[in-house]
Amino acid sequence: MRLDKRADDQLRPIKIQLNVIKQALGSCYFEMGKTRVIAATYGPQEVHPKHIEESDKCILMCNYNMLPFSVDGNRKKPGYDRRSVEISKVVREALEPAVFTEEYPRCAINIDMQIIQADAGTRVAAINATSLCLCCAGIAMRDIVVSVAVGRANKKILVDLTKQEEDADDAIDMPIAIMPREKKITLLQMDGIASIDEIKEIINKSFIACDELSKIHRAVLNKNISNI
Ligand code: CDP
Repeated sequence: MRLDKRADDQLRPIKIQLNVIKQALGSCYFEMGKTRVIAATYGPQEVHPKHIEESDKCILMCNYNMLPFSVDGNRKKPGYDRRSVEISKVVREALEPAVFTEEYPRCAINIDMQIIQADAGTRVAAINATSLCLCCAGIAMRDIVVSVAVGRANKKILVDLTKQEEDADDAIDMPIAIMPREKKITLLQMDGIASIDEIKEIINKSFIACDELSKIHRAVLNKNISNI
């Protein structure tokens, strides 16, 4: 039994609220246990600066940020850092294969993600929130993107690790994002050292957890938006 009483394969409780930001084209509040994020989409709109625009597709401009009060202990220094630049990039790369970017040439789709509370898995929560945001905004997509972190802590393979589990001495953390319809992986990162068997088990469990997440996402979208 884990400290929060979950089974090893169990996701943290998920809470999703769509269209929470009035002025955004699409927005989403996404909660995975104590990890909480708000994401909002603007566009398709003109690209700034102009020289980065692409003639045959749109660019996704993703901005991940962790608010100063989102972390335990000391307040985080406000603003962007190396970590937020890396996560903004991996979120963009996780989403891009799912978007019909060629439908919006010379445009930018801006996606802002604010982590309001962090307890591990903020990048995967941000990917779930942004994918739902794009759906709300009516952006043409091949599939939704769902994401979860599976890893090892205290010699066990665990789904959706908390910060306390991630801090275990033997911890491995593998965030993964999947387009469930095509079963295509769009993000795979790993912290720690794992055996081939452990990697296989982690990937298998990630697919199962993503399947469950995708059902939750589709149910929320069906309830809020028609024609999904
Ligand atoms: O959040 P995620 O697991 O995607 O990324 P990470 O870089 O592996 O961070 C793991 C966790 O460390 C975060 O979710 C936060 O709970 C915590 N963290 C923190 O307390 N202060 C930071 N400046 C960065 C991360």
